[in-house]
Amino acid sequence: MRLELLCAETASPKSPLALPLKSQGAVRGGRERSRRLLLPNRSTVFQGDGETLLRSLPSECVSLVYVDPPFNTGKRQERRRVRCHRVETDAIETETETGMPVYRGFGAQHHRREEVARLAYDDRHADYIGWLGAILLEVRRVLKAEGSLFLHLDFHEAHYAKVLLDRLFGRDCFQNEIVWTYDFGGRSKRRWPRKHDSIFWYSKDPRRYCFHYDAIDRIPYMAPGLVGARKALRGKTPTDVWWQTIVPTQGREKTGYPTQKPLVLAERIVRVHSSADDWVLDCFAGSGTLGEAAALHGRRFLLSDKSEQAFAIMRRRLSCFDVDFKSL
Ligand SMILES: C[S@@+](CC[C@H](N)C(=O)[O-])C[C@H]1O[C@@H](n2cnc3c(N)ncnc32)[C@H](O)[C@@H]1O
Repeated sequence: MRLELLCAETASPKSPLALPLKSQGAVRGGRERSRRLLLPNRSTVFQGDGETLLRSLPSECVSLVYVDPPFNTGKRQERRRVRCHRVETDAIETETETGMPVYRGFGAQHHRREEVARLAYDDRHADYIGWLGAILLEVRRVLKAEGSLFLHLDFHEAHYAKVLLDRLFGRDCFQNEIVWTYDFGGRSKRRWPRKHDSIFWYSKDPRRYCFHYDAIDRIPYMAPGLVGARKALRGKTPTDVWWQTIVPTQGREKTGYPTQKPLVLAERIVRVHSSADDWVLDCFAGSGTLGEAAALHGRRFLLSDKSEQAFAIMRRRLSCFDVDFKSL
């Protein structure tokens, strides 16, 4: 079904942008209006659908939205959690019946890996942009006047999503395309290895938005010898290309959740684009990276994820902060 989504550029009901939207409730002025709830008293993690959370919130209540939705890779995103056992054996097997390899150690010591959990979510969508459009329209509604959206995607849908955002927010509200680049994993021999994601920053108002320049972390100069000693010591501000390794496999931060994003990326966004005590929101929260960044910097947060596994991981990761956990 094709529905008409109003265009933020003109804000006129006579200028519809025809987009295939899955949800009728996304049509401004449509019949469907779900009950709006007040903001909770403290940071909350919800298990449930992101659009449902957004619809339940009053307008203009959050300062920052960071969303890292499924990328429409057409695959199931999956991570296996494995435990290593020491096994005493002389036989040098390469694989067990379960397909988990046995590794040769020193002497007769070998290590067998056993799968203890499989964390996954489905990333296949028939009408991705229609689905995302309905959600982003709600995101714009819940943002405060000086608020900002950060939408994190990769090459699969980024270009369509940017056109969608230009229409929903207005082209003049586009502030940056942040390129997060990393260098990990396989390298194609058939094309340039794909090693970056795009994070689109749109402010709700093209002129008034939160940007705490002094809160930007500094990075080393590439050629410190070419600048004075004081400058070299202080470092420089990053550009819109952010070099950052993926979450290290053995690092403290690793939760085992597929597609977990590095905490430092979320911290940079939270520090620069929100203020102390502000509300920040991520309705595709996965392992809860945005929540941890928000808590570490004194912001309050609303997170949701429809996956039970994600909710369980967020409970483990965020229980040390002042947080409620609820179902939607
Ligand atoms: C790319 S992951 C987010 C990863 C997260 N940024 C992190 O650092 O862990 C996308 C998440 O969106 C969730 N998801 C997909 N559709 C959803 C929906 N309609 N409502 C809420 N969550 C959804 C998936 O379960 C998955 O955990």
